[in-house]
Amino acid sequence: MDFQTTHHQAVTDKPGENALFIVYGLLDTPNTEDKVKEVCGSFSAIVRSMKGRYPELEISGVMGFGSDAWDTLFGEEEKPKELSTFQEIKGDKHTAVSTKGDLFFHLRAKKMAPCFEIASIISQKLQGVVESIDEVHGFRYFEGRAMIGFVDGTENPEDQEAYEAAIIHDEEAFNGGSYAFVQKYLHDMNQWNGLSTEEQEKVIGRRKFNDVELSDDEKPSNAHNVVTNIEDEEGNELKIIRANMPFANVSKHEFGTYFIGYASTFSTTRKMLEAMFIGTEEGNYDRLLDFSTAVTGTLFFIPTFDMLEALGE
Ligand code: HEM
Repeated sequence: MDFQTTHHQAVTDKPGENALFIVYGLLDTPNTEDKVKEVCGSFSAIVRSMKGRYPELEISGVMGFGSDAWDTLFGEEEKPKELSTFQEIKGDKHTAVSTKGDLFFHLRAKKMAPCFEIASIISQKLQGVVESIDEVHGFRYFEGRAMIGFVDGTENPEDQEAYEAAIIHDEEAFNGGSYAFVQKYLHDMNQWNGLSTEEQEKVIGRRKFNDVELSDDEKPSNAHNVVTNIEDEEGNELKIIRANMPFANVSKHEFGTYFIGYASTFSTTRKMLEAMFIGTEEGNYDRLLDFSTAVTGTLFFIPTFDMLEALGE
């Protein structure tokens, strides 16, 4: 498949400087279908206009649908094969919860203003037919560090490998689309900051200051980059594209990571989650979870821009 010519949404873009993550629920009104379809039809043009006017701001927009919303709006007959409601993953100690979400928007730019502008145009169009479920404003923290101080995104695949990891290429009708899985994590920063730098490095599997990977001997089996490093039966590494962003509400002492993984098959992301929350061996869950609680978890399908426009008709 020629990934460059599919009109896929910006699922392989870098996390960016600013990001707005919005999850809506559909309200059951006589206008819901029409209004959402109008946004499907105009979303690409709204983003394109903003990109054209401010090329230097690296603006990108992604719109997606949860499983229930897909059934309500477009019918169950023709549906992306892995789009279903996320089933929670319950480990002995930690749970990847499943939370509701019908429409999803991921807006990125060098400045927050275009993210806000696109979001407010959409929210105006959807007024009265949706309810807000979640909204997170993420920011780039120094050299792309997660809230916990480590550089995040280093091992993301690039170029052709990125397309293969993030863009569906074996589903005929849905080729060019993507599966986005989002989780909002809150960190216990007091407990995290109570660890020494060396102890923190063993949790992540990399050095904090210079981002260098620990050697295999140094990495414990429950380090985040050991647990999430998964392979298929033939020993090929399975990858997704992560575009996580830190967020905070400092006065409420709320510090978090908005995790977002784009994948060509959701089963890859799910395998990583199972390895993190349950562990591939008994008790070997991801040590990062002792300092990070997932408070949301929702799966969305991201159509191509062409599909979005067709869905709007
Ligand atoms: C690696 C942070 C959740 C998948 C990393 C790294 C950091 C990090 C700092 C090392 C640098 C890098 O390669 O990016 C976090 C934080 C999370 C989180 C703060 C939430 C609290 C997740 C989740 C998944 C995931 C939920 C999968 C479903 C990965 C993968 C790698 C990685 C695949 C690369 C592993 C490798 O070296 O091959 N993460 N992560 N992460 N993370 Fe996460």
